[in-house]
Amino acid sequence: MSTPAVKETESKTFDVEWVREQFPSLKLQGNGHAAAFLDGPAGTQVPKQVMEAVENYFANANANTCGAFETSRRNDAMIAATRGAMADFFNCDANEVVFGQNMTTITFALARAIGRELKAGDEIVVTTLDHDANVAPWRALEEKGVVIRQVDIREEDCTLDLEDLQRKITPKTKMVAVGYASNMVGTINPVAEITKLAHAAGALMFVDAVHYAPHGLIDVKAVDCDFLACSPYKFFGPHMGTLYGKRGHLQRFKPYKVRPATDAIPDCWETGTQVQELIAGIGAAVDYVAGVGKRCDSNAKTRREALAAAYRATVSYERDLLKRLLDGLQTIRGVKVYGITDPKRFGERCSTISLRMGEHHPTQIAKFLGARGIFTWDGNFYAMNLSERLGVEPKGGVLRIGVVHYNTADEVDRLLNALHEFARK
Ligand SMILES: Cc1ncc(COP(=O)(O)O)c(C=O)c1O
Repeated sequence: MSTPAVKETESKTFDVEWVREQFPSLKLQGNGHAAAFLDGPAGTQVPKQVMEAVENYFANANANTCGAFETSRRNDAMIAATRGAMADFFNCDANEVVFGQNMTTITFALARAIGRELKAGDEIVVTTLDHDANVAPWRALEEKGVVIRQVDIREEDCTLDLEDLQRKITPKTKMVAVGYASNMVGTINPVAEITKLAHAAGALMFVDAVHYAPHGLIDVKAVDCDFLACSPYKFFGPHMGTLYGKRGHLQRFKPYKVRPATDAIPDCWETGTQVQELIAGIGAAVDYVAGVGKRCDSNAKTRREALAAAYRATVSYERDLLKRLLDGLQTIRGVKVYGITDPKRFGERCSTISLRMGEHHPTQIAKFLGARGIFTWDGNFYAMNLSERLGVEPKGGVLRIGVVHYNTADEVDRLLNALHEFARK
């Protein structure tokens, strides 16, 4: 796990009231009740500094790139600054950061580019735990005769079956595509360990860090992955995707692009005009997280140190809420939680819970909660392989509760009370 131990001072200085003041939407109501946003895994709320950055772009820097005039230069400077922010976020160099529409689109484009070099019989490893955005782009290469091997899970705790993974990696494996954390059951995968296995077989490693990004510090150097993608709208930013690629790979693989566009990395991977106003928002989202870290640890000097401090504090805070949630769920009739529940193993999961209540359809529960101002999701969340493997797909999937650092113990208690009420019906 890449999130270091919490310093006593940080857990004390994490100030959820201050955090909540930064997010205007947290004051909204749902059906006359204070809204409890437990829907974060599908997209988190946004602090005001992200909104201001987008507005500032339109007011002061709204032009296309590389022009010989002021607003265009400001836009170029903003994009460079945001690349720098994402480089701190990933722990890489700025020219290893690619922006794109969303993680799915980026991954399809990357898979297509890598697929140019693959031949029939080459193998790619995907997993049953993953969101389909880290499965379908690789499966699309089956059209070229590429063989896809899918790693199973251990059903009892919804972790990856690492023995199966070792069996599935062969001398023919060219790519291992694994999620950092499951967006359905919260399992955190040992991605650094898996990268070593991939590299030992001469394969590349692609990490889908979309679900992990709001819950833990990403360090591409420590993981040593070749590519890693995540989506800022899951970590308090706007609806876009970002990719880290090792410089050598970004240079070597050839993206599909129009002729006049540059061949220089990372821009050559960014097809067409980007959603520049939202790139401005991405920089502000990273700075927001770093701001949380600076409040928790006054010794954090650089943005990277501040990001590390932020995650140390928020992970600790989220784990307390997770414990409260899991303890409470145990007392509710008919609840079955999928995945790791033992607090001693919280290092292997983040604060996203999926459950079923007997044979109740998850949509029915989500509607019941929604009517009480509690926002959760139901379904498979595109983690299609997992939903099928757990046998819940024909039954409407699961109810998903996502806790992030702006949620509170009071919201968890409201949810638990509402679920008790539902169970008594
Ligand atoms: C784990 C995971 N991977 C990938 C995606 C797809 O991301 P995007 O919406 O940016 O394409 C999601 C979206 O929910 C996700 O949770």
